Amino acid sequence: MTSDTASAALDGGPDKGPRHVAIIMDGNGRWAQSRGRPRLFGHHAGAKRVREVVESCPDLGIEYLTIFAFSTENWKRTQVEVAGLMSLFRRYIAKEMKALAERDVRVRFIGDRVRLDAKLRKLMDQLEEVTANNRGTNLTIALNYGSRDEVARATKRLARDVAEGRLDPDDVDEETLPKYLDTRVLPDPDLVIRTSGEARISNFLLWQSAYAEYEFIDTLWPDFTGTELARLCTKYGSRDRRFGGVKA
Ligand code: IPE
Ligand code: IPE
Ligand code: MG
Repeated sequence: MTSDTASAALDGGPDKGPRHVAIIMDGNGRWAQSRGRPRLFGHHAGAKRVREVVESCPDLGIEYLTIFAFSTENWKRTQVEVAGLMSLFRRYIAKEMKALAERDVRVRFIGDRVRLDAKLRKLMDQLEEVTANNRGTNLTIALNYGSRDEVARATKRLARDVAEGRLDPDDVDEETLPKYLDTRVLPDPDLVIRTSGEARISNFLLWQSAYAEYEFIDTLWPDFTGTELARLCTKYGSRDRRFGGVKA
C-alpha cells in the first residue's frame, strides 16, 4: 500500500465497495459431514458455489476476486481427499473454461505449481491463456498456495537478482518484495472473508492483507451466496479505513 492509495482510500469515504475481495472458502468438510456424506461431497458442492459468486462481482463493483482453493498445508490430508481434490480441480477447469472465457472473466493462478500434476498444470495454463484478453472480473485461484512459501520463493528470486547484479540491496524497500510475489499484478485485497466460523488466516495473503478488512462468518462455504457477498460488501462500505492516519 503506497501513501497515495492510502489517501485515495481515505478520500473514498464510506459507501465505497471493495475493489478486491479475497475469500478463504472453508467448511466443505463439515458441510458434508453434517449430511452424513464424505468430505469430497462437500468439496463438489463448494466448487459449484464459485460460479454464482464470480457472476455477482460486476454488480457489486468487485474488480478482483481471489479464492483460496488449496493450501500448501492441505497435502497433509488423506491421499483419498487430496487425489479427489486434484481431480475436482481438473474437472472444474475443463468444465468452466468456456463459460469463464465467454463471461469476460480473466483467470490467474497463484501458488507453487511445481508440485501439481502435469495434466492439471496444463489445464491451468490453458485457462489463463484463453482468458488472457478478458477485461471483466479478475478471478485469481490460489492453488497449492501458502503465503510463507510465496514469500520464500519471492526472496529466492530477489536474492538471485542481487547476486547477479540486477538489484542493489540499498534499493530494496517495501515496494520491492511485492514485485516478486505471485500476486505482483494484483492490488492488495480490501476485504478478506473467511467462511465456516474459523477466525484465522491459515497462511493466506499475509503480506498483501496487511490493511485489509476482515469478515469471519459462520456460513459454511457450500451455503455461501451472492446475496451474502452483497451484504458483506455493503458492510465494508460503512467501515472507516484509516491506514494508520487520522481522518479529517
Ligand atoms: C475448505 O474446506 C476446502 C479446502 C481446504 C480444500 P475444508 O475441507 O477445510 O472443510 P472443513 O474445514 O474441514 O469443514
Ligand atoms: C484454509 O482452510 C485453506 C483453504 C480454504 C483452501 P483449512 O481448512 O485448510 O485451514 P485450517 O486447517 O482450518 O487452518
Ligand atoms: Mg477447513
